[in-house]
Amino acid sequence: MCGIVGYIGKQKTVDILLDGLKELEYRGYDSAGIALLNCEKISVYKALGKLSNLEEKIQHSNLCASYDLGIGHTRWATHGKPTELNAHPHLGEYSYVVHNGIIENYKELKEELLSHGHKFVSQTDTEVIVHLFEYYQNQFNDCTQAFQSTIKRLEGAYSILLISKACPHSIYFFKHGSPLIVARGNNENEVLFASSDAPLIGLCSEVVYLEDGFGGVASKEGIVFFNEALVSWSSLPTSKQFAQKEGFRFFMEKEIYEQSNVVSDTMLGRIFDNSIAFDELNASLMEGIREIKICACGTSYHAGLTASYLFERLAKVKCSVEIASEFRYKEPLLSNDTLFIVISQSGETADTLEALKMAKKNGLKSIVVCNVDNSSMTRVADYAILTRAGIEKGVASTKAFSTQVVVLWMLALYFAKYKKSIDTQTLQNEIHALREVPSALLVTNSVHERTKRLSKRYLHGHGFFFIGRDVFFPLALEGALKLKEISYLHAEGYPAGEMKHGPIALADPELFTIALMPQNLLYDKIKSNVEELSARDSTICAISPLSFELADDFIPTNLKNHYMLEFFEMLVVLQLFSMEISVRLGNDVDMPRNLAKSVTVE
Ligand code: F6R
Repeated sequence: MCGIVGYIGKQKTVDILLDGLKELEYRGYDSAGIALLNCEKISVYKALGKLSNLEEKIQHSNLCASYDLGIGHTRWATHGKPTELNAHPHLGEYSYVVHNGIIENYKELKEELLSHGHKFVSQTDTEVIVHLFEYYQNQFNDCTQAFQSTIKRLEGAYSILLISKACPHSIYFFKHGSPLIVARGNNENEVLFASSDAPLIGLCSEVVYLEDGFGGVASKEGIVFFNEALVSWSSLPTSKQFAQKEGFRFFMEKEIYEQSNVVSDTMLGRIFDNSIAFDELNASLMEGIREIKICACGTSYHAGLTASYLFERLAKVKCSVEIASEFRYKEPLLSNDTLFIVISQSGETADTLEALKMAKKNGLKSIVVCNVDNSSMTRVADYAILTRAGIEKGVASTKAFSTQVVVLWMLALYFAKYKKSIDTQTLQNEIHALREVPSALLVTNSVHERTKRLSKRYLHGHGFFFIGRDVFFPLALEGALKLKEISYLHAEGYPAGEMKHGPIALADPELFTIALMPQNLLYDKIKSNVEELSARDSTICAISPLSFELADDFIPTNLKNHYMLEFFEMLVVLQLFSMEISVRLGNDVDMPRNLAKSVTVE
């Protein structure tokens, strides 16, 4: 959700800002903009749509050779349509701001500022920040006092960078609810800012992941934090190579192919012949726990749903799963014999983060299963288990999901062993199956080619039903979500046995049913459900290791001896299938319309 960057130093400011925004563009690409400050003169460039439009605009302009500092933004629209006027940085009379998040009380503030004669040009919530700053600056003639007074008035979630001709050598910054990192650059007198660490890698080695309520002012003389004593510096990796496409057409494609390798990292040092180990957890964690509650959004929610089957089946612990945005406002009854698990690729999703905070406030023990170390959730939860998937850049999540499911499967076995709810032989069989996950996730030429060829038959029609039972139901949900988000076709994931309770009324040749038919779990049951749909003329594409004569199309998977291995093999098929449909429709696979990678607003 929006990305922000900032730079103070002697390198070419415009290049540093554009390179940084490139790393963040997957977070939002409705518009982009930068503001550059040199000797009290501010130059601003904004463009609608992707960053390449901004780059083009800058190439054709008369850029000055050097700038002392600058701020930049890539936007995912919340308040106000994606237009150039609504693009950041936003201007007052003599200052500019970039902002990630939402200012909830912007209407009241705008009314107040209008009554003081301030003029607004955009429909955004952000514009009030810069006007409020100038209102106080005009009163106090002191930028620090003006900035701090501004912050005190803002409600909502935000990270902010602000520059002003009134203090032309400084960038003011503040974090509350949305992520922001401050870094000391590799060169002398250099300061960098970014809303995630990707733009900073290679440019600096020391960073502060700001906590909520932290801010300050930076200049080439250094960084002054408003709450200096509480700031802690940490280090960053120095290599950037893991975030490139490496010859694949899209990040999504690269990330699908990568899954087989990254799940090995996920398991590294965590699985042994007769046990699962998590160094991050404390053995006493499960003491007094009678129930598990999982909370997440989107794809991570689907991983949670999958885990609920595994927690109950293997660890024999009652488990419920909630969509974070629903959980927050339902006035849930929470008791401290419940272990609260949140799942998040980014660790920043606003609803999941707030749900986690709510659980903590109610005294529940908490675990986050997360891909981003040092993200907000890893800092709030009692325990953080990292999925180790590496940076995920495709907006449609792939390797984050497979690594989440692997972590959760291991966690179910870890709890099962602790609770003695599993016999040694079953535990060994499960661990043996876990070791096979990397090969189940391997993308073969034949599967990729088959999904490519089949994709051309599934471009039209009035909708898709992805159906499955047990863990293949959340997998069906995930298959449908992948298709929706990158192909813009209507798709639903459904429990196969539930079709006859209503949705089967939609069946006709233009209704495409993607049936997940594993050999090792309820095969006969799902077969009858698919037969019912076939009898009503729905077009059936079966994904199964067993041939199915009623299928119009068939994607064969390999025979396996564990249903979870079938799960992972089918996952790859579904990811490739949606990607190839999206390619045929001419869509932007990595940056689908209306979406953003990390949803840091409610
Ligand atoms: C779908 C997708 C989203 C995310 C959701 C939660 O492909 O990426 O549905 O899964 O926004 O994000 P995280 O996992 O970062 O909390």
